[in-house]
Amino acid sequence: WKRFLQTTGTITLVTVATGTAFYYFAQKDRTPGPQLPHDPSKKTLVICGSGWGATSLLNSLDTEDYNVIVVSPKNYFLFTPLLPSVAVGTLNPRSIIQPTRYVTRHKKRQVTVIEASATDVDPVAKTVTFADTSEIQGAVSNTTIPFDYLVFAVGAEVQTFNIPGVREHACFMKELEDAEKMQRHFMDCLESAAFPGQTPEEIRRLLHMVVVGGGPTGVELSGELHDFLEEDLRSWYPELSESVRITLVEALPSVLPMFSKQLIDYTESTFKEAKIDILTKTMVKEVKEKSVVLQMPDKSIVEVPCGLVVWAAGNTLRKVTRDLMAKFPQEQTNRRGITVDECLRMVGANGNIFAIGDCTATSYAPTAQVASQEGAYLARVLQQIAKKDELEARLKALQTAPEAEVQEERAHVEKRLAKLEKIRPFKYSHQGSLAYIGSDRAIADLPFFNGNLATGGVATFLFWRSAYLTTLFSLRNRTLVATDWIKVKLFGRDVSRE
Ligand code: FAD
Ligand code: NAI
Repeated sequence: WKRFLQTTGTITLVTVATGTAFYYFAQKDRTPGPQLPHDPSKKTLVICGSGWGATSLLNSLDTEDYNVIVVSPKNYFLFTPLLPSVAVGTLNPRSIIQPTRYVTRHKKRQVTVIEASATDVDPVAKTVTFADTSEIQGAVSNTTIPFDYLVFAVGAEVQTFNIPGVREHACFMKELEDAEKMQRHFMDCLESAAFPGQTPEEIRRLLHMVVVGGGPTGVELSGELHDFLEEDLRSWYPELSESVRITLVEALPSVLPMFSKQLIDYTESTFKEAKIDILTKTMVKEVKEKSVVLQMPDKSIVEVPCGLVVWAAGNTLRKVTRDLMAKFPQEQTNRRGITVDECLRMVGANGNIFAIGDCTATSYAPTAQVASQEGAYLARVLQQIAKKDELEARLKALQTAPEAEVQEERAHVEKRLAKLEKIRPFKYSHQGSLAYIGSDRAIADLPFFNGNLATGGVATFLFWRSAYLTTLFSLRNRTLVATDWIKVKLFGRDVSRE
């Protein structure tokens, strides 16, 4: 009895302590304190975007140094790595977004958040023009504000290569609404296939899902679709599940070119087991309402009937980025994106415009890892710049004072300024590549003891889950995602069509 009571007591104590700590941190997140108001003596920092780069910058930025204004058409941060899980209902859409105000309200000085799309940047007048592009607009929906420093972090949009029918008939996998749309479309295909009197041919068409692009987005989505089929649809649509087919189409000779050969082979064999067809060296030439037109490896053209096409064929620049680059015709000639120097300053723009993430053309891949490291780096750079600006202003003020009185202080300020003159360049530290491939398996290429560890399987899947859970920016999101995973394990995915 004594032992039993001791054990129960310890368990109760640990549970209560954990619960209290959890409650404390959750409440701390929910109840931000008062903030300093904007200070007219501080410089204005405008941040365009609320994605990986911008949010990482905001998380690390000392807002006491600047009056910060965030402009983004989404008033939230989207955790893109888990987007394919939303598309099949494993995760709730709300679990992977974090309102930007949840970040900014915790900063020392007020940060203005404006839900709008930047439409123009004038680097000479140092202004940003933006417009409210949401459904509801007030009397004012378009305005221009000045900036001292601008961080351009607007990401990229989906690359369609102007292939006919893509915009009209395919679903994308870039934004939250894309994943929600895909889920609705997928469920609609199933319900239409279940409609009485449907011919076997039409059932096969409706249940053929084509994913275009064998990059990580296309591969992860195919894996998630397969899980949905195996773990849920077989129970709720037993008469249809055998007819569901997933085809992944890739123009290059293999999927996942950024992973090692061993992991590409592992992915391909996992997909083979999962009956996901991979068509490599095959290019989508057109997307029609009920089919895709493929150019096969032997250059023949084949039209394949299908119910759903998901387009995951890479990124291209947004119009606002192209327009900004066009203002520097000499310096900004890279078609992949904005050219920046080693401190992420836009080349040609006098050092007051910074660009990070997918809108830039650097030697790094357009990934969340790169964008978030760039954001955190920029927070340090901006802090250094703020200090430098402050000292320069002080030096200017000292110039009007009598020489004898301020000589010592001036020498001190000049010494500190000299130290701040040089900005340390951005250095990317690669933490490895991870991707989920379905069937509770993931692949990972990790930098390991000066070498590379290529691993795949169930243990890697658990590592993938824990890595993403810890990368999620807040306790709230970590809790929501973990709860969704448990809910799906217990009750399965929801198959209702919203
Ligand atoms: P984004 O995160 O796209 O943010 C851009 C922001 O700018 C958004 O808030 C947007 O609303 C805003 N914006 C758009 N237009 C304007 C405008 N006109 N004015 C102002 N703001 C604007 N990378 C990884 O490293 N690991 C992964 O596992 C991974 N998984 C991914 C899964 C999917 C499905 C996708 C689509 C991408 C994935 N990526 C992953 C890539 C990663 O999401 C991007 O590299 C990353 O989002 C780039 O960050 P960013 O800040 O440049 O752009
Ligand atoms: P991607 O650019 O990596 O892959 C797109 C693929 O589509 C390419 O392989 C291309 O050859 C193919 N393609 C293009 N047009 C085609 C056509 N007409 N027909 C057939 N195939 C066609 O794009 P993705 O996967 O969206 O990734 C974008 C970025 O985000 C990459 O940098 C990637 O590394 C990153 N990312 C990383 C993830 C991870 O680390 N787990 C997950 C998702 C994205």
